[in-house]
Amino acid sequence: MKILITGGAGFIGSHVVRRFVTKYPDYQIYNLDKLTYAGNLENLKDVDKLPNYHFVLGDITDDTFIKQLFEKEQFDGVIHLAAESHVDRSITHPNEFVMTNVVGTVNLLNAAKSIWKDHPERKRFYHVSTDEVYGTLGETGFFTEETAYDPHSPYSASKASSDHFVRAYHDTYGVPVIISNCSNNYGPFQFPEKLIPLFINNIRHNKPLPVYGKGVNVRDWLFVEDHAAAIDLIYHQGPDGETYNIGGHNEWKNIDLIKVLCKVTDKKLGRPEGTSEKLITYVTDRAGHDLRYAIDSSKLQKELGWKPSLQFEEGIEKTVDWYLNNQGWLDNVTSGNYQKYYEEMYGNR
Ligand code: NAD
Ligand code: DAU
Repeated sequence: MKILITGGAGFIGSHVVRRFVTKYPDYQIYNLDKLTYAGNLENLKDVDKLPNYHFVLGDITDDTFIKQLFEKEQFDGVIHLAAESHVDRSITHPNEFVMTNVVGTVNLLNAAKSIWKDHPERKRFYHVSTDEVYGTLGETGFFTEETAYDPHSPYSASKASSDHFVRAYHDTYGVPVIISNCSNNYGPFQFPEKLIPLFINNIRHNKPLPVYGKGVNVRDWLFVEDHAAAIDLIYHQGPDGETYNIGGHNEWKNIDLIKVLCKVTDKKLGRPEGTSEKLITYVTDRAGHDLRYAIDSSKLQKELGWKPSLQFEEGIEKTVDWYLNNQGWLDNVTSGNYQKYYEEMYGNR
């Protein structure tokens, strides 16, 4: 079994690669990644010497390169995670999201369609997507697999578009596809532009904690290894053409989550309780900011027997510990262009 994992040097991708190369030593795992600002081979240094792990540097928007790679390697499966993933960046640079998330996905679909056209059986194109395609909820209700798509940011619009292409290639050309839509992930190796690692890093440096709007937006948080476990299960056992929602049933209002983060991090840094809460600074809201996400993952639980393994309290302790024990990783990824990014994103808020 030869599997291509795209975006394997990123946050979730690195957890999926680690799980597959260690759990399935008889699979050959190819990690294709462009190594953008979000891709980091350091994330895989504990597994990159394993004989079934192979790294391919490349860009999914390059259709000639993708076609040649598929013809050469004749993959049996694809788990597609490569993407531009940060909503704020999509507001300032939407075209990059169209190129990678839409055009890149279509390039991969064309290549899979071409090499599998005579033998689609036992092949699989797994597209990893997000709950943001469903738009926003009010105070109540959950996103199910039947919820109509209603994306509001350039990021979620590009992911929605890629989901539609994946289903269209299934229905039109018979490409064997499967899709999952997951809620917010947290855990080790997440780039510190996303809420949780950004705030841990700012607390570490006594920098302001920029809360968008009133801090009342709600997200449903899932520990990243539970997402990787769900991907493993769906890849191996999900029926062709299906969609599964993945989520933690773990909703937090941003401001409440931030206060927990401040408390846990202060304790671990040996600072008096309340120290970091003083860093909370309310800033201009994100444009088009979705109010609430909450996933109904009962289909995945009932059909495939998945459930999250970690309680949030345990997950957040593990996560804060990881970032504080890996300050070298944080320092590396926040050198270079990071300061410029930070200034552009937060300078005028
Ligand atoms: P990430 O930004 O941490 O990693 C993305 C990876 O893709 C990086 O390694 C980057 O180098 C690579 N990449 C980007 N453009 C590329 C290109 N043109 N060619 C090849 N590689 C390229 O993202 P993440 O948070 O790990 O998300 C992974 C996937 O999961 C994305 O598709 C995202 O939409 C989806 N998702 C993320 C979350 C979340 O909470 N982070 C939740 C649900 C779904
Ligand atoms: O729901 C799944 C999605 O979760 C994924 O598809 C995306 O790739 C991932 O980035 C994430 O999107 P969010 O926009 O929800 O995540 P982010 O960490 O950027 O923000 C979480 C919440 O915190 C959101 O309501 C905005 C708020 N926020 C974020 C940042 C970076 C702040 O208040 N301040 C900040 O500085």
